[in-house]
Amino acid sequence: MNKLLKRFEDYLMDNLPTSQTFHPIFEDALQMMLKAGGKRFRPMLLLSVVKSNKSLLIDNALDVALGIEYLHTYSLVHDDLPSMDNADLRRGFETIHKKYDEVTAILVGDALNTHAFNLIANASLSNDIKIALIKTLSSDGGINGMIIGQAIDCYFENQKLELNQLEYLHIHKTAKLIAASLKMGAIISEYDLDTQNKLYDFGIDLGLLFQIQDDIIDETQSDEEAGKTTANDSAKNSFVNLLGLDGAINAANELANKCIDTLNSLDENLKNSLEELLLKYINRHK
Ligand code: IPE
Ligand code: IPE
Ligand code: MG
Ligand code: MG
Ligand code: MG
Repeated sequence: MNKLLKRFEDYLMDNLPTSQTFHPIFEDALQMMLKAGGKRFRPMLLLSVVKSNKSLLIDNALDVALGIEYLHTYSLVHDDLPSMDNADLRRGFETIHKKYDEVTAILVGDALNTHAFNLIANASLSNDIKIALIKTLSSDGGINGMIIGQAIDCYFENQKLELNQLEYLHIHKTAKLIAASLKMGAIISEYDLDTQNKLYDFGIDLGLLFQIQDDIIDETQSDEEAGKTTANDSAKNSFVNLLGLDGAINAANELANKCIDTLNSLDENLKNSLEELLLKYINRHK
């Protein structure tokens, strides 16, 4: 395992959220999806940006990286609920509502969402930086970000969207949180605004690519291979449903080329720090 990823995984396992009360299963439910793993793509984006020019700040950035992973994990717990995508498997394990019940899954999601901001507020960083981080995460993970994307995704099931609406959906549902992860790394590293914006725009392309690949996975992989319920997008405005599998692969290839060009145009430190992580994901549909 890559050293930075190991550092993040160790930190996550050493800082699992606790809820030590007489509730018999809440703490287990709260921790299970965090312990279950996942790619940790978003925290690794953040930490890789920090590493590029302020490697001494990686320790201080771990709570923020954890906050992003908590918010993302909450979005998955809720995404799997019967009223949303109704999925039984996530990160190789039974989903929380399957293992326990819906009330527990809803509340675990709520807890991970609020605790994400608690982690950032308590990080060892300046207050100005923490406020900028909280603004970014609450915006890109919130009403005008991930939430409206999820709302459109679910509302328009079985109703075909136009291509520009499809892009809007997926940029909000997935790409904005990925873009925010890069930008939040740049905020911690005190990169100038131009660099912050360039990384954010890059993240939108990367995030859109990530979701096209995710839609391809739904079509082409088994539950076991993906570690989550697949063949689950039949009612969705997925890229595969709108473009066909070949069309989705072509769209992914095109966006992958654009992302590689952008990666190559970044300043040397950023490029070196992000390259290994990004090439792995940019090429994952191939
Ligand atoms: C799945 O995200 C949901 C999408 C936004 C596509 P990931 O594929 O990053 O899920 P984990 O974190 O690895 O489980
Ligand atoms: C979910 O997209 C995006 C989120 C904001 C959680 P999907 O519904 O395609 O994610 P998977 O395929 O269930 O992981
Ligand atoms: Mg979904
Ligand atoms: Mg889903
Ligand atoms: Mg999917």
